[in-house]
Amino acid sequence: MTQLAPTQLAPVLTIDGPGGAGKGTISRMIAEHMGWHLLDSGALYRLTALSALRHGIAVDDAQALSEQAQNLDVVFAVENGAMRILLEGDDVTTAIRSEGVGNAASQVAALPPVRNALLQRQRDFYQAPGLVADGRDMGTVVFPDAPLKIYLTASAEERARRRLLQLQQVGEDARLSTLLEEIKARDARDMQRAVAPLKPAEDAVELDTTQLDIPEVVERIETLLAERNLV
Ligand code: DC
Repeated sequence: MTQLAPTQLAPVLTIDGPGGAGKGTISRMIAEHMGWHLLDSGALYRLTALSALRHGIAVDDAQALSEQAQNLDVVFAVENGAMRILLEGDDVTTAIRSEGVGNAASQVAALPPVRNALLQRQRDFYQAPGLVADGRDMGTVVFPDAPLKIYLTASAEERARRRLLQLQQVGEDARLSTLLEEIKARDARDMQRAVAPLKPAEDAVELDTTQLDIPEVVERIETLLAERNLV
């Protein structure tokens, strides 16, 4: 894949923040509007975790996990406008979104060899005409030269409520109080890990989405893109 000089030939918009702040939906909508590529970096950590679970690899076996991450057999396919994710030929689009895989992903993501193994794979998504990169360390580590970095937040309570709705849509049942505890535990783990912790880049624009709906957030970000002459 061609390596482009960052920010010269194609803009990168990074959208970081904790789970449930709306990054996934917002990133997808902006990528669609702009006709840009989309990197869902969380999916790569989820795929590494699911693959480990399926191959009987412990979520703290850094060496085996980084080999797993390096050699992930993954296909991101767009079908009828929807993204399908295949792991070793198996459609895991829904399976990787479960709470169990999310928790395992958060543990796997704390291991530096796993993060290193996934770094180039993430940068390979950077292609003209532009990229929206969604994650935790897009603006701080993976694309530090991005010309627009957004840090999306929302209260833990609001994020737990959104997560419950999402799980219900894929037919999973959950308790709001349990989800809230899990969200707080995952935030703590993502923010306190030694490597690439979840935090806003120094030059990030912070947006609190607790009181905003999705179209409002999309509009604010697209206005920023226009103000910076990125579209
Ligand atoms: O965004 P998500 O819920 O799909 O991410 C799953 C886990 O992967 C999350 O707990 C943190 C981790 N992650 C990460 O460490 N770095 C990223 N760039 C994206 C996700």
